[in-house]
Amino acid sequence: MGPLFLLQCLLKEVKCMIRYAMRDDIPAMTKIYNDAIKYSNATYDINPQSEAQRGVWFDAHQENNPILVFEVDDKIVGYTGLSPFGSDDGYLYSVNLCIYVDWSNRGEGYGSDLMFAILDIARARQDVHTVVSEITSSNVASIALHERFGFEFRGLVREVGYKFGEFHDMCYYQLMVNGKILSQT
Ligand SMILES: CC(C)(COP(=O)(O)OP(=O)(O)OC[C@H]1O[C@@H](n2cnc3c(N)ncnc32)[C@H](O)[C@@H]1OP(=O)(O)O)[C@@H](O)C(=O)NCCC(=O)NCCS
Repeated sequence: MGPLFLLQCLLKEVKCMIRYAMRDDIPAMTKIYNDAIKYSNATYDINPQSEAQRGVWFDAHQENNPILVFEVDDKIVGYTGLSPFGSDDGYLYSVNLCIYVDWSNRGEGYGSDLMFAILDIARARQDVHTVVSEITSSNVASIALHERFGFEFRGLVREVGYKFGEFHDMCYYQLMVNGKILSQT
């Protein structure tokens, strides 16, 4: 875990833990995601999702595609995950990253700690070559967070998202994490 993580736990005297998500975390993760749907263009989902829908998302993230949660005094304050970059076989060494922090806990370093932890996992794996994030161009917090962790801007797709009555540009940010690739079959 990052130094921020340890410092926060010490300073706030709270029980902090970043751990693999469990099915029991689905309600908390759904709430965090639904707030992002309702109040931001961080995601282009428009209608709130049910826990059952998020359960399907969760089940698609086993073993090779981990989800981590940040738990503070029994509250899930955020989560992050690695998803397949695409369904084509040739994308097997590439992953998409998602990261969401509860609106009431933003700006407290939790996003950075989650990012640190998920990239630690990505780097430790032999089969993750690159991590890609799709970020709305106006999402300054997410862009700053990604740049802080070495992600580089790889391009912008104009007006691909439509939400809250207007079009939004989407940026691609990328981090190369591992040069060692297993031989492809
Ligand atoms: C993006 C997000 C995960 C960041 O999490 P967080 O816990 O607030 O981030 P941190 O407190 O660790 O801050 C990390 C860095 O991000 C940047 N940042 C955070 N909030 C910011 C804001 N409102 N404006 C500009 N930069 C911001 C800063 O560079 C900050 O580093 P600093 O504190 O040293 O200056 C969080 O804002 C979030 O969940 N947003 C909604 C969902 C989302 O946009 N997810 C990403 C989809 S691509």
